[in-house]
Amino acid sequence: MKKILIKNIKGLVQVGENIPSVLKGAEMKVLPIIENAFLALEDGMVVAYGSMEDWGGIDDWRDLEIIDADGRFVLPAFCDSHTHTVFAKSREEEFVDRINGLSYEEIAIKGGGILNSANRLNAISEDELFEQASERIKVLISYGTGALEIKSGYGLSVESELKMLRVIKRLKDSCGIELKATFLAAHAFPTAFKENKQAYIDLIIQEMLPKVAEEKLADFIDVFCERNYFSVEQMEEILLAGAKYGLVPKVHVNQFTAMGGIKKAVELNALTVDHLEELSEEDILALKNSTCMPTILPSCSFFIGIPYGNARLLLDNGLPLALASDYNPGTTPSGNLNFVWSLACIQLKMTPEEAFNALTVNAAYAMGLSESHGKIALGRRSPILITKPIPSLAYMPYAFGDQHIERIIA
Ligand code: NIG
Ligand code: FE
Repeated sequence: MKKILIKNIKGLVQVGENIPSVLKGAEMKVLPIIENAFLALEDGMVVAYGSMEDWGGIDDWRDLEIIDADGRFVLPAFCDSHTHTVFAKSREEEFVDRINGLSYEEIAIKGGGILNSANRLNAISEDELFEQASERIKVLISYGTGALEIKSGYGLSVESELKMLRVIKRLKDSCGIELKATFLAAHAFPTAFKENKQAYIDLIIQEMLPKVAEEKLADFIDVFCERNYFSVEQMEEILLAGAKYGLVPKVHVNQFTAMGGIKKAVELNALTVDHLEELSEEDILALKNSTCMPTILPSCSFFIGIPYGNARLLLDNGLPLALASDYNPGTTPSGNLNFVWSLACIQLKMTPEEAFNALTVNAAYAMGLSESHGKIALGRRSPILITKPIPSLAYMPYAFGDQHIERIIA
């Protein structure tokens, strides 16, 4: 048995036995921290923690590694509940198009966007896709991501959607952190179905879904509910079909347009509604008294220059909030959650504590991992981060763009 004792921890963060699995409104301001603390692990499992004053010393030195964390914080790893980490190629030509004045919508209309990624994904092998994604995940782990949701949605054909999901399945077995897979064939209509959109929806429901279910390739189902993509009615048809196979909805809504998708998603028991750059009064009402986790993706707003989601409106209405990266080649070519933390503080006006709760406890809920991830508590085995020596926890979002993590214990 491998034992680790971390002692002299400046702050042991998000620790305790009574932290709820969803933090709402004013609760999000509270972040439990034990100062001058120790943490003991056995084979990665938390077996004891507390203040150094209460530390009982060591009676068994066998297989024990002692880490002196002097000046460092210890935190539960971040959870990234919304990403598109499996993709074939980067899209920096669209980035340049945007600098030259085109919008995301205009770029998509001229053949860029999701369809661009789909063409590129069709052209590469499953092995190559797997290798590329593995490399990306190593980088994400180094930034502190300890659980990751990954969507399909750049396949848009039976074979290529399955190819993506099989890659995610292989990554689950090999990447060293917990992964969740989301089936997102309803990400865009392929060009061949432009004149007959219902035929593509039928393909998703009749051809893809049964195979996805048979091979157990997905945990969740997603639809990009947006003008020029999938309407609220089309989203409903697809989510209802997914529910027959036990797939829980996590949907893209309100990125560019508030068109009633949140209300419908809540009715259909969505675990999360993601993006929310646009929010109406009706959306807020729908989220109240629901178990759905609103999720904001500030690095998408940062990168494509669209409005930031109104986090304060959600929190001031007593609602919970999760934050995620949206890592993808089109709108967010970064999965760095420490940077998301900075953006949440700077642009969403969240305190460092609120944003950290949104990246841990609430993010774990947003991917169905409340039982294992998002906090440090006895009996848990999820990854733990040790920072470099830093003056305070707020320094992590404050000194944006820097690497603050020194070690990851998985
Ligand atoms: O979440 N909005 C839809 N999907 C992705 C972007 C996809 C792309 O442009 O490749 C997003 O931002
Ligand atoms: Fe997305």
